Amino acid sequence: MKNLADGVYFTGMLNPNMRVFDVIMRTEYGTSYNSYVVRGTQKTALIEAAHRSFSALFQEELAQALPQGCAPDYLILNHTEPDHSGCVAELLERFPKLEVFATQAASVYLKNITNIPDLRVHVVKDGETLELGGKTLRFLSAPFLHWPDSMFTYLEEDKILFSCDFLGAHYCEPGVLDTHLVYRKAYEDALKNYFDCIFGPFQPWVRKGLAKIAPLDVDMLCPSHGPVLTRGCLLENALAQYTLWSREESAGAKKIPIFYCTAYGNTAALAEAVRGGILRVFPDAQCKIYNIIEHDLDALVALLNGSDAFAVGCLTINRDAVPPIYSLLAHADAINMAKRPAALFASYGWSGEGFANTAARLNSLKCRVFEEQFKVTLVPTAADLAAAADFGERFADSIC
Ligand SMILES: Cc1cc2nc3c(=O)[nH]c(=O)nc-3n(C[C@H](O)[C@H](O)[C@H](O)COP(=O)(O)O)c2cc1C
Ligand SMILES: [Fe+2]
Ligand SMILES: [Fe+2]
Repeated sequence: MKNLADGVYFTGMLNPNMRVFDVIMRTEYGTSYNSYVVRGTQKTALIEAAHRSFSALFQEELAQALPQGCAPDYLILNHTEPDHSGCVAELLERFPKLEVFATQAASVYLKNITNIPDLRVHVVKDGETLELGGKTLRFLSAPFLHWPDSMFTYLEEDKILFSCDFLGAHYCEPGVLDTHLVYRKAYEDALKNYFDCIFGPFQPWVRKGLAKIAPLDVDMLCPSHGPVLTRGCLLENALAQYTLWSREESAGAKKIPIFYCTAYGNTAALAEAVRGGILRVFPDAQCKIYNIIEHDLDALVALLNGSDAFAVGCLTINRDAVPPIYSLLAHADAINMAKRPAALFASYGWSGEGFANTAARLNSLKCRVFEEQFKVTLVPTAADLAAAADFGERFADSIC
């Protein structure tokens, strides 16, 4: 337990040994599951809870921040992902009168997380306030940061914003406050990694979240992971970074990368021809060709996800597409792939499943797969290459 301001306490749990979060994220600096207690003269609120595995420790920590023998009156959940809500069922067993405040979406998720179907949740409206006695909590709608359920809570008198995952980092140092941070560079690495993995697919919502914070007077920002950020130390920097990382790119040259795999060069030759056709329509396009196995997968994933359109060429081996194609497409940002124009081409020998299976993945991503697909048996002839170029041109025309 740590006192952050008069009547405001940090009751977070440190998890320095975590190395993977939510399957998709490496967390070399561990994490913390931050929670906070706000004590007014009349009522006490707990903001966020903790991961289920920390339930017992969390309750001990919480007891230290509460007036002797008292229960918290309110539990504010800005977001219900189980890293913050996993121990709520146990918390409610211990404090049956605890009143939960959350958004409409959160109220539904929380029932399915606690498996308490008749769980009562006070569903908050944007701008609604809760009086604790000399401490006023204001709830601010901030959806899709990064689930539909998310919101912010602002403590007006102390100018403290509880932002849950927003501006958080999977990072763990015992000092809690940014002013006590020892390894600043490591923290900055964690902040960026967190942004990329958690908020990368939600950039329009990040911009809305930043706009929501902009008019507030914030002296301290309390996220649900990593250090508490204060004005004059790291708060301004974190806000500036989020602004930079989420900014809309100005419409410049079209980005149309071409990815392929090849064993004998046939699909590679088709890739060159398709590129030539695309460049006829968009001479300035960023339209490079990438043999997937020769490049760093993360770099290719960034090109794929940042593209305006893309093309994929996949040979067939043993009645299937090849693993590097699946790996690349497995990392596609499915949230933002819908309607992305995609063209498919390939050389095959006799059955051509590489083609069909790649198309299936593109369709499941809801890409706008160019209706014509370009297949050649074995070695493309000069006529095939000319046709591939025309195919590339028609594809480019279709995305104008
Ligand atoms: C090990 C191996 C297995 C193959 N299996 C299939 C197959 O199951 N069905 C098919 O249509 N073609 C199959 N092929 C043929 C290739 O898809 C064909 O040779 C194609 O032209 C290769 O394109 P590339 O030059 O871009 O590697 C196979 C080729 C190899 C080398
Ligand atoms: Fe989350
Ligand atoms: Fe989280």
